[in-house]
Amino acid sequence: MASLKDNIDMERLPSHIAVIMDGNGRWAEEKGQDRLYGHYHGVESVRDIVEGCAEMGIGYLTLYAFSTENWDRPGDEVKGLMELLVETIRKEVATLNKNNIRLHVIGNMDMMPGYAKSELADALADTNGNTGLNLVMALSYSSRWEIVEAVRNITADVKSGKLDPESINAETFQSYLCTADFPNPELMIRTSGEYRISNFLLYQVAYTELYFTPVLWPDFRKENLYEAILNFQQRERRFGKTSHQVQPRPPAKS
Ligand code: IPE
Ligand code: IPE
Ligand code: MG
Repeated sequence: MASLKDNIDMERLPSHIAVIMDGNGRWAEEKGQDRLYGHYHGVESVRDIVEGCAEMGIGYLTLYAFSTENWDRPGDEVKGLMELLVETIRKEVATLNKNNIRLHVIGNMDMMPGYAKSELADALADTNGNTGLNLVMALSYSSRWEIVEAVRNITADVKSGKLDPESINAETFQSYLCTADFPNPELMIRTSGEYRISNFLLYQVAYTELYFTPVLWPDFRKENLYEAILNFQQRERRFGKTSHQVQPRPPAKS
């Protein structure tokens, strides 16, 4: 069967794709099930998309799995999500290693339950040597938290004399964010028909191409990913310049 993948220009893939995986709850409710049923099915989509990115040779995939604000959801849902996280990581580490995928985590780990923290620490250590796809899980993450943390750490380093305040520039600032080791995303996908960023990578998306789809996360599969990448490849990224500057045309004949 023909796949949209055949139309993708493999030389112009986004180096980093970020995904706001939204719509699990609505997907479950549409089926008369409870919200956790949707989260469980969302894991299938994660598996498919991680595999799709690894197959194409994408460098970085960041998945927004749990936001700082999600801690305020009903206790049962939060507990269920944490258990699902631990169970999934435990099950998937072998596959990550088989596919040369390195796991990273960004977010406020202080808020995570102890059992989840230790499972994550083991998975990070176990996949540490992998050199293929970098899979970044945003957990207990929010941009405002990250930016405030960066400011706190910068202030502490200035105070202790480690950092000269006059030397602070955009590069210094980025080096204090959780994403210091990763390039900024080139493509950000949000599922479920919501048109907002919900506190995700606010500093990093300054020039990211945004792609919104009505598909609910548990229905999102590789073909949907290919569609997003094809859409990305049709865009002209100008970074503040003019169209002529980014796509120099031959001079007009006189
Ligand atoms: C996304 O799905 C997963 C998380 C935020 C953890 P939701 O749970 O937000 O699903 P909807 O938006 O209520 O449908
Ligand atoms: C964003 O989804 C967070 C994650 C996907 C983890 P939400 O469902 O929490 O976002 P809002 O509340 O609709 O903005
Ligand atoms: Mg949601």
